[in-house]
Amino acid sequence: MIRASDIEQAAEVLRAGGLVALPTETVYGLGADAENPAAVARVYSAKGRPPTHPLIVHLAGAEHLDSWADGVPDAARLLAERFWPGPLTLVLRRGSRVPLEATGGLETVALRVPNHPVALELLKVFGGGVAAPSANRFGSVSPTTADHVRAELGDAVDFILDGGPCEVGVESTIVDATGDTLSILRPGGVTRESLEEALGFPLAVPEASPVRVPGQHPSHYAPRARVVLVEPDEVVAEAARAQDQGHQVGVFLPPAFADAPVKAHAVVRVPDSDATYAHRLYGYLRELDEQGCDLIIASLPTEAGLGLAIANRLRRAAGPRDAG
Ligand code: TXA
Ligand code: MG
Repeated sequence: MIRASDIEQAAEVLRAGGLVALPTETVYGLGADAENPAAVARVYSAKGRPPTHPLIVHLAGAEHLDSWADGVPDAARLLAERFWPGPLTLVLRRGSRVPLEATGGLETVALRVPNHPVALELLKVFGGGVAAPSANRFGSVSPTTADHVRAELGDAVDFILDGGPCEVGVESTIVDATGDTLSILRPGGVTRESLEEALGFPLAVPEASPVRVPGQHPSHYAPRARVVLVEPDEVVAEAARAQDQGHQVGVFLPPAFADAPVKAHAVVRVPDSDATYAHRLYGYLRELDEQGCDLIIASLPTEAGLGLAIANRLRRAAGPRDAG
């Protein structure tokens, strides 16, 4: 349980230039006072993240939009009103309040209002913007519990607010609203379908973003084990073959094959519901690492709804490891 005094203490840590791990509905964030360049620099070093990679600035409510961004287009305002608080990040023109340290030197800024009572209370009590990337080491799987944060970052964090497991489980959807048309830079907790329904027009989902988005590096969201993606009806056979070859295989068993006999070191039964799958995805990857798997065999879900974000993260996890 989080007490009011915990929130006060966390806000004090932020004011003093310290780092606070905070729960959000997507994943845990590693937060610092967005207007304090020295505090923001500590976020980058704690994560081992290159300083040119921009952070998301978290706000207490959509009413703060115009003090952090300039020239907010109507479509972005509509999305903020419809989806905040919630798993949507808007990339906008940087307001003068945002130091370049928080944007990795870009003239744009990523803003979001998280939908978690603890995060919202902290943002309200603190009063400013909290720059917070996911609270993991650069390139690894995002934390969805306070224990994951402790395991990843330990003493590098000054204060951890434990708000329980994150409900959504995958990161926010990032929408670029800096150009003439809106586009999705990273699929996430708000589905493309619900964004398009709110806007009344389709959104581009570019293959490779023209802006620098580290989440788009192939090596991101990766567990220690190598991840190999195959067709759903090949999962069982591939797992057995790799296990026979001497691998410690972890299997993501698709729902249609839930009752199939499996030869593997560890088995994850993929839930039927994409919401449940997203909620548990990063936990599964961590568990298979902990169980000593060196190879994970998985398949992609249908890329609609939350399945788009899940497939994106699985592809990144399976991507080449030499990309950063
Ligand atoms: O759900 C989330 O978004 C979580 C929680 C903690 O809010 N945060 C998160 O932050 O995933 P991070 O830093 O792991 O990913 C933020 C992504 C990065 O891929 C970054 O490149 C992109 O947002 N980003 C930030 N500012 C940007 C900008 N100005 N232009 C384009 N992309 C930007
Ligand atoms: Mg991240």
